[in-house]
Amino acid sequence: MIRLKIKLCLSGTLILLGLTASVAYTQTETLASASPFPVGLALTRNFYKNPDYARLAALEFSSVTAENVMKPRYISIGPDRYYWQAADSVVDFCRKNKMQLHGHTLVWNKSVPDWVKEFKGDSTAWEGILKRYIQDVANHFKGKVVSWDVVNEALNYEENIKKDGIWRNSIWLQHLGKDYVARCFQYARQADPSAKLFYNDYKVEADTLKLAGMLHMLDDFIERGIPIDGVGLQMHITMDTPEPGIRRVIREVARRGLLVHISELDVSVNPGHDSVIVKEKDELLKRQADKVRQIVTAFMEEVPPKQRFAITTWGLTDANSWLAYKKEDYPLLFDRNFKPKAAYYAFLKGLTKKYTGQ
Ligand code: G3I
Repeated sequence: MIRLKIKLCLSGTLILLGLTASVAYTQTETLASASPFPVGLALTRNFYKNPDYARLAALEFSSVTAENVMKPRYISIGPDRYYWQAADSVVDFCRKNKMQLHGHTLVWNKSVPDWVKEFKGDSTAWEGILKRYIQDVANHFKGKVVSWDVVNEALNYEENIKKDGIWRNSIWLQHLGKDYVARCFQYARQADPSAKLFYNDYKVEADTLKLAGMLHMLDDFIERGIPIDGVGLQMHITMDTPEPGIRRVIREVARRGLLVHISELDVSVNPGHDSVIVKEKDELLKRQADKVRQIVTAFMEEVPPKQRFAITTWGLTDANSWLAYKKEDYPLLFDRNFKPKAAYYAFLKGLTKKYTGQ
C-alpha cells in the first residue's frame, strides 16, 4: 500500500528506497504508458466516491467503458425521456483525466427498458423506437465517445444455434426480424459518423459454433457494406480457458481488417463457485496471470498495430468485479487494496511481444 501510494504521488520516476521488500511494484511505467494501444477499465457506478479508486483508474488506464450507466435501461426512462446524469459524470471523469470513452451499449437484449417491454405497436412502430433511441443517444454523446458497442450479444450459442439458428431470441428479433442488427449499425453511423462502431459478444473464444455464427455475420456485413468498424471480444474467461481458442478468434477478426477490442476482460479463478478457495489462492492467481499474459501476447502477435483498438478489464479491483458480488473470486489486475497482482505484471510482460503476422 505504501509503495502504491508513492507511485500515485509521484506517478513518474520512482525511487522506492526499499520501503517494502515483498512487492515488486517498481516500474516507472503504468499499463497506459507501457501500452502501444489504449488500456481500459469498466468504471463502476460509484467510482467517484472513493478517491483511491478514481486515482488508480486515472493513473493506470487510458480508456473507460461505463459498466452500467450507458445501457438502455439506465438511460431510457420513457418514450423520448432520458436520464443522462450518471453517464454524463463518466464523460466528465474521462475529460478531466484525458481518457477516451467507449460507449456501452446501444442495444442489448438484457437491457430493455420496462416501458419498451410493455410497448404495443406494429413493426414500423417498433422500428421507430429502436431508431429514435439509437439516434438520440448517439447524438447526445457525439464528440464525447470515440466508439460504441452498437449491438451487444445478439448471437445464439451452442445448443440454441442447432435449434433456432444463429440469432439469439430477443424482443428486437421478435418484432423486427434478424436484420435489425445491421440496421442498428446504419442508424448509429447516420447519427455519429465519426464514432467507431463495434459488435460485442462473449464466449466466442470457447464456442466454435458461436464463433462460426459471428464470422458469418461479419462477412455478410462487410459484403453488404454495413458500417461496422470492429468487434468487441468480451473475454470473460477462466484460468483454464484454452489458449488456442483465444488466439483463433482474435486472428479471425483481425484478418477481416476490423478493429479488435478485448472489451470486458476478467479471468475467474473460481468458475465452479466453490465456497472456499483461499487455500489454493496463490496457485490459482499464478495460473490467472499466465492466462492474462497469453491474451495480451495473442493481441500483440495477431493484431496489426492499426487494428488494436484497446484491451479493457471489466472493473478495477477484485472488489468491484461483477463476478465477486455473489461468490469468492479474484478476477482482475488489482486486489482489494488497490495493489497490482501477478496478472498486472503478466499484462505488462505480454505487451513486449511483436506482431508476427503479414
Ligand atoms: O444499483 C442497484 C442497487 O441499487 C441494488 O441494490 C442492487 C440489487 O441487486 O442492484 C443494483 O444494480 C445492479 C447493477 O449491476 C449494479 O450493481 C443490477 O441489479 C445488476 O443487474 C447489474 O449487473 C450488471 C450486468 O451487466 C447487467 O446490466 C453488472 O454490474 C455488469 O458488470 C454486467 O456487465 C455485462 C456487460 O454489460 C455485457 N457483458 C457481460 C457483462 C457481465 O454480465
